[in-house]
Parts: sequence; structure tokens; C-alpha cells
Amino acid sequence: MIFDPVPPYRPSHFRVKFAVEPWERRACAALRRQVFCTEQGIFTDDDRDAVDAHAIPICALSTMGGEADAVVGTVRIHEVAERPGEWWGSRLAVARAFRGTAALGAGLIQVAVASAHARGCTRFLAHVQERNVPLFEALHWARLDAVDLHGLAHHLMQADLSAYPPMHDPEHGLVTFRRAA
Ligand SMILES: CC(C)(COP(=O)(O)OP(=O)(O)OC[C@H]1O[C@@H](n2cnc3c(N)ncnc32)[C@H](O)[C@@H]1OP(=O)(O)O)[C@@H](O)C(=O)NCCC(=O)NCCS
Repeated sequence: MIFDPVPPYRPSHFRVKFAVEPWERRACAALRRQVFCTEQGIFTDDDRDAVDAHAIPICALSTMGGEADAVVGTVRIHEVAERPGEWWGSRLAVARAFRGTAALGAGLIQVAVASAHARGCTRFLAHVQERNVPLFEALHWARLDAVDLHGLAHHLMQADLSAYPPMHDPEHGLVTFRRAA
């Protein structure tokens, strides 16, 4: 008897939202470690820092049968205590197998900036790795300055808030879809 191979499960839609459940937050931390420690080697075995004490983690969830299944992308946002209205995004990461497949990076940036906008953000900044500058420019960010961070070339960039209308329900977030193959 010949069995047809079962193709691997490929989720077709994803939800991008604030990571509120403990398992979502743990999975965001694990994905960051995977990307920034193991893959990029920017940190040795822990990329957490003081910002994590007050940052809001955001996750991209794959779905199975309509239910949240796994964290496949993450970013965090925080407001600078000394400069109310100034928000930053950092540690943007999408799991390798899901890059370029479902606009997860763009979705994470959308939830990050739009949710901060709804919380009184007047200036949203990020240090962007050189290779990702074109992605951010395509998403309405402007370069402000070139900086070296962790031995890697980065650009300080600012989002055009008019391209990111305030998102008032980031615990619900938004849905992105897998591109046609
Ligand atoms: C950067 C990263 C988060 C992008 O995630 P992603 O889910 O692949 O991005 P998207 O699919 O949303 O990309 C959106 C668009 O930008 C394009 N794009 C993605 N990465 C790009 C890049 N580095 N340069 C130029 N364009 C890029 C995509 O092709 C897509 O274009 P399209 O919609 O016209 O097809 C992901 O590559 C990643 O995790 N990299 C490793 C960690 C990292 O570098 N973090 C960022 C630190 S600044």
C-alpha cells in the first residue's frame, strides 16, 4: 500500500497583538533568545535588559483551527519615563521559517506604533539594523542618524505617526494572511 506523504501544516493566518498571557510572554522571550543570541550572536545567552521591566511585549501568533498556536514573531515597546510622549520599539524578530511569508514584521511594526499612538505617543523611534532600513522606509519611517550598536551598523529612525492611526484595542490587534505561494 502506498501512503501519500502528509504535507506539513502551514498556518494561513496570524494574529498580531499585545502578549498578555504568560505563555505568550515566555514564548516571546524564547524567540528573542533564538534570534538575537543563537542566530545573530549579538548577545551571549540572554538578550533581556532593564527596558523589559516596563516594556509591553507584542506577539505574532500562528493559528490552528482558529485558535492561537505558537508565537512566531515579537517586538516590544516602551515610553521613556523622562520624556513623556517619546516611545521606542526594539527587539523586533520573526521566526526564520515565517520571514517574508505573511507580512509579520510589518504587522508587528503596525501594532507597535499604532498602539503607542493611542497611548499618547508623539514621537516613535527605533534603532534599526542597516539591512532592515529599506523595510522601515517602505513602512513610512525616516532615517535620523547612523549609529553603531553591539558592533553592528544601525540607523536611528522615526515613524511617521500620520501613517499609523491610533489602535485602541491592541489586546485584540490585527490579522495578517499568508501570501499566495
Ligand atoms: C526584519 C524582520 C523582522 C522582517 O520580518 P518579515 O516578517 O520577514 O517582514 P515582512 O514580511 O513584514 O516584510 C514586509 C516587506 O518588506 C520586505 N522586507 C522584509 N525584510 C526586508 C529587508 N530586510 N529589507 C528590505 N525589504 C524587506 C518584504 O519582502 C516585504 O515586502 P512585500 O510586502 O512587498 O513583499 C525579520 O527578517 C527578522 O526577524 N530578522 C532577524 C531579526 C532582525 O533583524 N530584527 C530587526 C532588528 S532592526
